Amino acid sequence: MDFFDVISARHSVRTYKSDPVPDALIQQCLEAARVAPSWRNGQCWRFVVVRDAQVIEQLAGQRIYGYKINSWLRSAPTVIIACAEPGESGQHEGLPYWAVDTAIALEHLVLAATALGLGTCWIGGFNEATVRQIVGIPERVRVVAYTPLGYPAEREGLMGRAVKVIARSHSRKPLEKIVHWEQWRD
Ligand SMILES: Cc1cc2nc3c(=O)[nH]c(=O)nc-3n(C[C@H](O)[C@H](O)[C@H](O)COP(=O)(O)O)c2cc1C
Repeated sequence: MDFFDVISARHSVRTYKSDPVPDALIQQCLEAARVAPSWRNGQCWRFVVVRDAQVIEQLAGQRIYGYKINSWLRSAPTVIIACAEPGESGQHEGLPYWAVDTAIALEHLVLAATALGLGTCWIGGFNEATVRQIVGIPERVRVVAYTPLGYPAEREGLMGRAVKVIARSHSRKPLEKIVHWEQWRD
């Protein structure tokens, strides 16, 4: 797939086929993350690859603000948890670059997955302490986000369709609203 086709094909997938993702494809996605740029090339990112259905069920069962908002995650055959070793990155003027580095790497992974015909969805709705406890992540490591990885179902399920409507997922601000040429103008 041409790069710009990959960019436009990527969207959040919330319903998956049960088929497992071949290890070779998981490796290709991880490799795309591995080569991402980072603060002083610190490469602070770490990934936990979860294929155990019971563990995925635990991740999916978390309540956020009282609701299991990501219960749809249980259909995914794989979840990749993106973490950071903050000590291997830095801060500049209060900006924590471990989060930036890890987000860049995860998006590399997401785009690679799209190019391989796999679905993903950024997930920020989780409880960090719970995720740490579920997969044994130590206290010094931050959990930045995670994504399911799998073959998209033929048809997005009810939950996926509802989230797309609520989040107005197809809509994007026009360039005029987000770009300033030469000087910022309010
Ligand atoms: C940092 C971040 C956190 C997100 N967290 C969740 C989440 O917890 N659950 C969910 O269903 N989608 C989550 N999303 C997906 C967004 O809702 C989605 O990217 C947005 O609606 C645009 O839709 P698209 O990805 O299909 O283009 C998250 C996206 C980002 C970037």
